Amino acid sequence: MKILRLTDLIAAGQVTGKRVFIRADLNVPQDDSGRITEDTRIRASVPCVKMALEAGAAVMVTSHLGRPTEGEFKPEDSLAPVAARMSELLGREVKLVSDWVDGVDVAPGQVVMLENCRLNKGEKKNKEELAQKMARLCDIFVHDAFGTAHRAEASTYGIAQFAPVACAGPLLSAEIDAISKALADPKRPLVAIVAGSKVSTKLTILQSLAKNVDGLIVGGGIANTFMLAAGLKIGKSLAEPDLVGDAKAVIEAMAARGAEVPIPVDVVCAKTFAADAPATVKAATEVADDDLILDIGPKTAAILADKLKAAGTIVWNGPVGVFEFDAFAQGTETVARAIAASDAFSIAGGGDTLAAIAKYGIEGDVGYISTGGGAFLEVLEGKTLPAFEILARRAEG
Ligand code: 3PG
Repeated sequence: MKILRLTDLIAAGQVTGKRVFIRADLNVPQDDSGRITEDTRIRASVPCVKMALEAGAAVMVTSHLGRPTEGEFKPEDSLAPVAARMSELLGREVKLVSDWVDGVDVAPGQVVMLENCRLNKGEKKNKEELAQKMARLCDIFVHDAFGTAHRAEASTYGIAQFAPVACAGPLLSAEIDAISKALADPKRPLVAIVAGSKVSTKLTILQSLAKNVDGLIVGGGIANTFMLAAGLKIGKSLAEPDLVGDAKAVIEAMAARGAEVPIPVDVVCAKTFAADAPATVKAATEVADDDLILDIGPKTAAILADKLKAAGTIVWNGPVGVFEFDAFAQGTETVARAIAASDAFSIAGGGDTLAAIAKYGIEGDVGYISTGGGAFLEVLEGKTLPAFEILARRAEG
């Protein structure tokens, strides 16, 4: 995908003295007192701000935080804690500016944070009047918000249409590069892991990947529905019997391409869904009527680990078992460690997946960890994200 990048503009000396508007995704979780509980997105957004400052730009950075009501400011919707955290990370003051749509006072070499952009009327619906006003604030619009790249809002899409120049920041660029490497031009075999509680929430992902991947590993409740599709009994495990037909269609689509959906050969069962429930390993053909499948068994985990170690590219979304409970975490741990040990280029995304990566401390051994939640899932569905579409269009001139 051909898009203009901030690094290209800096290399061409086109950023010095310019007004640069950065749309970041600083939508971080907070506790009841407003304290930031996880700051990955802020840390991931710092390089873009630094890059623009070092190039001598007058820098404005904004983001949404939560889903506030437009035009109704409430203290809990403020980016104030985010500005404070970014100040710490940058080692310089980041002033928070409210009511900024009609003008922002910022000089080259300075950075200001513009208050929660979802407080502006017209943001969500990408109203042209708002987008035009925002575009007039800058010489260069930088989209660096991969987590919001699936939204076409005034600060993510409209401004990119109307700003004199629109480009991708380093975080968005890195996400685009990793996604292209994994899905558009993958080293084969390409193996995807799609796990989670329900087929229904990931059906379009499964259908889309079934056209491209060489191996499609399913896990969690999704695997249970695929076990039903393979004619296995799953007791009282979480599954969606009405989607067995769709699961069969995915298996058949893969088989028609000479590709495979590995069905578990053994599983870890319990009688209740509890951390201290006794765990029993069973052959996949031996599941009793009152069993709950809470993890893949060791034989299945070993088979999957071999496939992952032999892969050229791995895409990972979702833990394969209830890894929050230690007795049912071995499948996910084995998969995580196999990904870490594999020479394959790997890309991982999604909240639970990131939690599993953190639990097993394999951050340094995954090729790319996406900052996108919904955006990452839409990429896996094969959708063209609005951010990619508009930046590619602007790059055409
Ligand atoms: C996210 O948290 O996934 C992004 O910040 C997007 O947020 P949204 O779903 O409220 O648009």
